[in-house]
Amino acid sequence: MMKKMYNVLLGVAAIVAMSFFVSCEGPAGPAGTDGVDGTDGTPGVAGNLSCLECHTQAGMDAIENEYATSGHGLAAYVAYTSGANRAACAQCHNNEGFLYYLSATPGGVVTDIFNATKVSCETCHGNHASLEDGIEAPIRTIAPVTAIADGTVIDFGNNSNLCANCHQSRASYAASEAIDSVKVGGVMVKVEAGNVGIASSRTGPHHGPQANMLVGVLGYGNSATHAHTALGCTSCHMGESNGTEGGHTFFPSIENCKGCHSGATDFNIDEAQSNFDTRMAAIRAKLVEKGIIVDATGLAVVGQYPLAEFKAYWNWISLKEDLSRGVHNPTYINTMLTVAEAGLGL
Ligand code: HEC
Ligand code: HEC
Ligand code: HEC
Ligand code: HEC
Ligand code: HEC
Ligand code: HEC
Repeated sequence: MMKKMYNVLLGVAAIVAMSFFVSCEGPAGPAGTDGVDGTDGTPGVAGNLSCLECHTQAGMDAIENEYATSGHGLAAYVAYTSGANRAACAQCHNNEGFLYYLSATPGGVVTDIFNATKVSCETCHGNHASLEDGIEAPIRTIAPVTAIADGTVIDFGNNSNLCANCHQSRASYAASEAIDSVKVGGVMVKVEAGNVGIASSRTGPHHGPQANMLVGVLGYGNSATHAHTALGCTSCHMGESNGTEGGHTFFPSIENCKGCHSGATDFNIDEAQSNFDTRMAAIRAKLVEKGIIVDATGLAVVGQYPLAEFKAYWNWISLKEDLSRGVHNPTYINTMLTVAEAGLGL
């Protein structure tokens, strides 16, 4: 306990000392007895002002509170994705896994992690590399991300690349198309020409394919980007917080839309989300009718299906897991819905 207090005090002392250092002009050279005064250093950033933009107790407490309500803070699946045989999950689902992943080049193969902890401050923030130049919140990585699903390089050019590391698909429809046999009723059956095999009830892009959606490579249909693509993730999902959305709640904030959609009162701009829901419901009903998904669970029925129907399934599950109800990339989402409808004769 004493030791911990001591460390905290040291940290505070470091901040105070560092602020002092950067608040003055650069150090003047020593006044030598017969030498000339050294040149002044480059003026530092106004230390007290800029450090305290972020490092006030009230500010950090507010961020802690926002974070506590976020999906990251709630971390419903952190226990489920740590422990034995969960190496494939750790890089996105827990702090230790992500740091391990970032420590190796390229993208380390993570081992099983036991007693994993949730995605937290230190998962996304490292240390300040420098306190001399413009000071920003230190972010672990803003490097472009090579998509797991198909190798597309995803690059928002800013902090949003951090999100793309984890909020991306883990599978591609091409991999499903390459399956040559499926096990139906305990028997391996060859997939016939013109059909595509669904080998698992969970076939799909896996739960958070938002980055792939933004850049327009997730499902069937001509790839397209949108004015929203350039926004990355943080411009809609962070910014100012009112405690329940924006900032470190990571939930999108309506305030972030108003710059372009003046007068917006909810995300259902131009009824786009309602229209999306209607079209998705019709596609779902048809997939159930054709026996491709189970009504109660929405899970796929293992088997083989004509390519056009498989396309409909893939686009439907991808749009569902994107979770924006049509917002992330409206142009491309419209294309994906149209392909799905066509495949089912809607
Ligand atoms: C734009 C916001 C911001 C500003 C301005 C800022 N910091 Fe930070 N700082 C952060 C964040 C975010 C972290 C990581 C927090 C965490 O992991 O809990 C951090 C971490 C730190 C740490 C602990 C990690 C380390 O790098 O050793 C120290 C010390 C620190 N800041 C000092 C300063 C000082 C001194 C200044 C002013 C010169 C400053 N910071 C300005 C956001 C900021
Ligand atoms: C280290 C991986 C990782 C990073 C980096 C990451 N996330 Fe997440 N995020 C997750 C995981 C895992 C969940 C689901 C947590 C759970 O339910 O256990 C999640 C949940 C969320 C949720 C809530 C989803 C829901 O269904 O409630 C939002 C919103 C979100 N993240 C946005 C972001 C944004 C924006 C960024 C970038 C600033 C980001 N995330 C960075 C892994 C990450
Ligand atoms: C590439 C990163 C990544 C990997 C690898 C990953 N996940 Fe996830 N997973 C996520 C993100 C991000 C979310 C949050 C989805 C959202 O709400 O947008 C998530 C959500 C989930 C959910 C909640 C689904 C729901 O409908 O709410 C479960 C369960 C889950 N993952 C299990 C796993 C398991 C098990 C593994 C390993 C076999 C795994 N994940 C591997 C990124 C990943
Ligand atoms: C999922 C990743 C993620 C997590 C977890 C996270 N942050 Fe941040 N944080 C960011 C990003 C990204 C920014 C930059 C905001 C932007 O680009 O709009 C940021 C900005 C900040 C800032 C600068 C001021 C501001 O509000 O923008 C502070 C301070 C900060 N974070 C502290 C924290 C603390 C404390 C925690 C833990 C309670 C935390 N962060 C958890 C991603 C994260
Ligand atoms: C144009 C603004 C915008 C951009 C850009 C954006 N999002 Fe979203 N996002 C939204 C909206 C709006 C929703 C739907 C919220 C709703 O209907 O409740 C959403 C939903 C989500 C959800 C589900 C949240 C939940 O509560 O279920 C996650 C996770 C998510 N986005 C992550 C991301 C990631 C990661 C990126 C970047 C790759 C991103 N978003 C880019 C606006 C945006
Ligand atoms: C940088 C500007 C910008 C921001 C910020 C922005 N959008 Fe958009 N959004 C656009 C543009 C441009 C279009 C295309 C307009 C069109 O097609 O008429 C668009 C289209 C849309 C559409 C489709 C509308 C339709 O008629 O089909 C929806 C829904 C939408 N935005 C929701 C949002 C939400 C929700 C947010 C905030 C979370 C947001 N946008 C933030 C620029 C923006």
